[in-house]
Amino acid sequence: MPGDRRPHPAPGLSVRTDGQTGGVPTRPDVPASFLAVHTRLTRPPLAPEVQVHVADDVVALWEAMETEGVGAGDSPPFWAAAWPGGQALARYLLDFPETVAGRRVLDLGSGSGLVAVAAVLAGATSVLASDVDPYSHTAIRVNAEVNGVTGIEVVGDVLAGDPPEVDVVVAGDVCYDREMTSRVLPFLWTAWTRGATVLLGDPGRKYLPGEGLVAVAAYDVPDVDEARPRRTTVWRMP
Ligand SMILES: C[S@@+](CC[C@H](N)C(=O)[O-])C[C@H]1O[C@@H](n2cnc3c(N)ncnc32)[C@H](O)[C@@H]1O
Repeated sequence: MPGDRRPHPAPGLSVRTDGQTGGVPTRPDVPASFLAVHTRLTRPPLAPEVQVHVADDVVALWEAMETEGVGAGDSPPFWAAAWPGGQALARYLLDFPETVAGRRVLDLGSGSGLVAVAAVLAGATSVLASDVDPYSHTAIRVNAEVNGVTGIEVVGDVLAGDPPEVDVVVAGDVCYDREMTSRVLPFLWTAWTRGATVLLGDPGRKYLPGEGLVAVAAYDVPDVDEARPRRTTVWRMP
């Protein structure tokens, strides 16, 4: 068992535990050493400027989360992959840094933190990285450190409350099932109504209706599990 269960945050990073922005993980902190043992560092094909820890064998990882981590939880280890929607968003931010430069960003459903890191590299002044999974919280912190970026604040579930005070909301691959989509879209429309720029990265999932959205970029994202790349769109709320 790893001994250090409460690693110190990397410089410039913090994990909010005051509950003001919602969900504090109910499980203990995941030690960074868990990622070191059970994932490998890679550069996602579409955004090789960023390094993230990924797992090749998700089933083995899930078992390790149960036996060596802080429990496997209800969801698969989404945090251990660079999803097509996240890769497309990261590419977009890196190619069009003016989208976030000098602005406050919320990365909703941050997972590995790929998009959050890309936002910092593109010049965002601050990034809130929201995820409900405590493994994601550690992954974001570790991946930020690997990429030498600061200014990312890791938070839990923000969907139940008002959107935080940010200028841009980015959400990579968050419309992966009906329930998540039904929570995410009203939140994003509220953020947009209040003046935020809202961008979604999505590989054509059926739950995301195109109505009201403007396609600003599309990429073919190589997918390790698929023979063909996934056509993935960056959508902007109008
Ligand atoms: C398919 S993954 C995408 C991760 C990352 N954005 C990417 O594109 O690589 C979706 C993420 O949403 C997170 N998630 C699920 N429910 C959430 C909620 N209510 N608030 C924030 N994140 C949530 C999951 O834990 C997971 O990390």
